[in-house]
Amino acid sequence: MSPARKTPAAEPAEAPVIQLKGVNKFFGTFQALRNIDLQVKKGERIVICGPSGSGKSTLIRCLNRLEVAQEGEIYLFGQRLGQDAAAARPLLAQLGMVFQQFNLFPHLTVMENCTLAPIWVQALPQAEAEARAMSFCAACALATRRRNIRRNCREGSSSGWR
Ligand SMILES: Nc1ncnc2c1ncn2[C@@H]1O[C@H](COP(=O)(O)OP(=O)(O)OP(=O)(O)O)[C@@H](O)[C@H]1O
Ligand SMILES: [Mg+2]
Repeated sequence: MSPARKTPAAEPAEAPVIQLKGVNKFFGTFQALRNIDLQVKKGERIVICGPSGSGKSTLIRCLNRLEVAQEGEIYLFGQRLGQDAAAARPLLAQLGMVFQQFNLFPHLTVMENCTLAPIWVQALPQAEAEARAMSFCAACALATRRRNIRRNCREGSSSGWR
């Protein structure tokens, strides 16, 4: 008689980090997003591409509630993003985005602009926030300009910090 073998329990499927179901977004009578279904899993990197005006930014703005979609469901980290802005705040604090047109604080340095939200929103220790920001600055060839304030970065920088 052989020992009874236990069938390994199936791993619970991990909820997608981002999920959209049937999202429709209108600006007046103009429909910017049409029946969007999307799933992004943890660790997955995706590209959303399309012609100018096809709704890429609108989609991202709906994720962080800068825009509110009239129809459909949006889930972040498995939780439904509801109508209540205050209830959504802890969820949205975990979501980051980089604006297409920068909105930076002109009186702060590169480093201060990069660390402001992680320190104030995520309560990250300053040293940790700076180390993280430094790795991003290095990736964008901005490491040597991290102590510059925004207006001092213009000269000679056509694609960097403006
Ligand atoms: N606040 C708004 N009010 C009215 N129409 C808007 C608004 N925001 C975006 N739109 C319209 O929605 C459509 C999608 O715009 P969106 O900015 O999402 O496009 P995009 O794909 O990000 O374009 P680009 O590649 O130029 O950044 C466009 O036709 C745009 O004019
Ligand atoms: Mg855009």
